[in-house]
Amino acid sequence: MSQHFQFQLTATDGKARRGEITMPRGTVRTPAFMPVGTAGTVKAMYLDQVRDLGCDIILGNVYHLMLRPGAERVARLGGLHEFARWPHPILTDSGGFQVMSLAALRKLDEKGVKFRSHLDGSEHALTPERSIEIQGLLDSDIQMQLDECIRLPAERAEIERAMEMSLRWAERCAVAFGDQPGKAMFGIVQGGDVIDLRIRSAQRLAAMDLKGYAVGGLAVGEPQAVMLATLDETLPVLPADKPRYLMGVGTPQDILRSVARGIDMFDCVMPTRSGRHGLAFTRFGKVNLKNARHAEDKRPLDETSDCPASRDYSRAYLHHLVRSNEALASMLLTWNNLAYYQSLMAGIRAAIESGTFEAFAASTEEAWAQGDL
Ligand code: GUN
Repeated sequence: MSQHFQFQLTATDGKARRGEITMPRGTVRTPAFMPVGTAGTVKAMYLDQVRDLGCDIILGNVYHLMLRPGAERVARLGGLHEFARWPHPILTDSGGFQVMSLAALRKLDEKGVKFRSHLDGSEHALTPERSIEIQGLLDSDIQMQLDECIRLPAERAEIERAMEMSLRWAERCAVAFGDQPGKAMFGIVQGGDVIDLRIRSAQRLAAMDLKGYAVGGLAVGEPQAVMLATLDETLPVLPADKPRYLMGVGTPQDILRSVARGIDMFDCVMPTRSGRHGLAFTRFGKVNLKNARHAEDKRPLDETSDCPASRDYSRAYLHHLVRSNEALASMLLTWNNLAYYQSLMAGIRAAIESGTFEAFAASTEEAWAQGDL
């Protein structure tokens, strides 16, 4: 295993890219979907199961882990990999985005952000330097810069202010991160739905020669067409030889259309959160298991799947578990959903390798359009 963080493209098909990120804790095959493991757990899953689905990397959150159990405590317990029993790569988000969506009484300025915990109201602060320090204490393999993500719609002046500050925070994070050959710190492109601001953000980050780049501030209330147009304009500005990560996205259709534009990495709560709310993802679209029409349906979600949750349990039983609020409902549906997402990513990777990505994407979208079976 490489002692250095490295990214290699192994195949391209149009703008779609197949690659490998190698680092001391393992290799990430891209395009990759990272299950969200906010608090050091992918909710309702054993991490061994997550691994068995073919998952190379999971995501953790500075915001949640700094509040509970605390970054210094995780460090004393051997770091997040050892604490959670996941010896493979971990990417951590820097905290700014979660502060804005979860914390109370936020106060943000050039220095950083002060906020009250959503758990107990206690006061906390995050600066770019402290976010990187926490990600180091967690021993995260891919660390994200602290940024400010603006919800859309928003005024150009407000988008520009946040984007420029995020660039200054990227520089402070890069200094705080320093030279760590086996790890990476990614910058985050901001700029809302304003194309010239996106391009400026991407150019200035590219000039910093970071090890990878994320596109943030998308899937925050804008139509999908705006997100895709933003990718069309932004990605050509980023260096082709570095990984590109679209944060917080998305549906299978979002993923296919973003891979087609050159995105390599994704994370989203959708498969895990939906699983806890009775929604299953399958090759033929979403299935809402709360619906009464599944009450006596003996068919599994997908009899061709390798995943026991998808293949071996009747929809009638899953419906019963969901209706009864049983823990097993969350466990089986999360398992099914992550299995579907990982099989989608494996299909995408194989299609890029064989030069058939466009046909794969079209047939996957067509099957999905059949909707709730
Ligand atoms: N997760 C989804 N979007 C974003 C973003 O813009 N910034 C950060 N840090 N995390 C995100």
